[in-house]
Amino acid sequence: MKDRAIGIFDSGVGGLTVFKEIKRLLPEEDIIYLGDTARVPYGIRSKETVTRYSIENTEFLLSRGIKLLVIACNTASSLSLEEIRSRTSVPVVGVIEPGAKAAVKSTRNKKIGIIGTEATVRSMAYPETIKSMDNTVQVFSKACPLFVPLVEEGWFTGEVARLVAETYLGELKDKGIDTLILGCTHYPLLKGVISDVMGKSITLVDSAQETAKIVKDKLEELNLKNNSVKASYTFYVTDSPERFIKVGEKFLGEKIDNIEKITLMEVLR
Ligand code: DGL
Repeated sequence: MKDRAIGIFDSGVGGLTVFKEIKRLLPEEDIIYLGDTARVPYGIRSKETVTRYSIENTEFLLSRGIKLLVIACNTASSLSLEEIRSRTSVPVVGVIEPGAKAAVKSTRNKKIGIIGTEATVRSMAYPETIKSMDNTVQVFSKACPLFVPLVEEGWFTGEVARLVAETYLGELKDKGIDTLILGCTHYPLLKGVISDVMGKSITLVDSAQETAKIVKDKLEELNLKNNSVKASYTFYVTDSPERFIKVGEKFLGEKIDNIEKITLMEVLR
């Protein structure tokens, strides 16, 4: 069991921010990553649709014999985590709880901001999770849908990124938050510009880093840590790999090989 891979899925390339942190923290673990690039974005879709996609992604990764599943997508974690947990025997880690926990720990004035896709914000998953940890905390949410295409274009810095960030984040600044959760896979890549706009005194919580820590704790707790010397990384995508490779290499800052296109319905039949 220990030498099985960790499975990660996301709606596309964004979950590579989570992949990167897990790889950094757990360099001895094999990882299988599935990017559902044929059906991205999830952030504008209904709970029913995102849950259906998430179930198919999960079934595919389970068919590869994974030992732990990470739902790297904030939207899928917000809308489908419970459903996925109820269907799987392996431990499932979503990105909401780790981010919420780190934010509750970090806030001093008990005012936390959260930014994410429309579906994540609509789901109320972050505020509910935060309130369950400390109900004296005030949570302010803002959907920032344009951040995703900006990052996909590789516009992590510059005038356009700054203008978009200023437009979205102004109202959160006015609320006097001291902590901001980057509640979407893509947003860690905009950390620099978000921090410039919000001010250096605001703590930015990167769900990707927090999730990697939880994955490590979980593997240790369940005695599932691998001790291999050289880990392997396999990528699957549901649309042609070219764009995933191009954008993904920017996300990771390294080469992506060992990638295969799959058609989920065919594989799962
Ligand atoms: N992966 C999504 C998330 O973290 C962002 C991209 C999408 O909308 O699918 O919410």
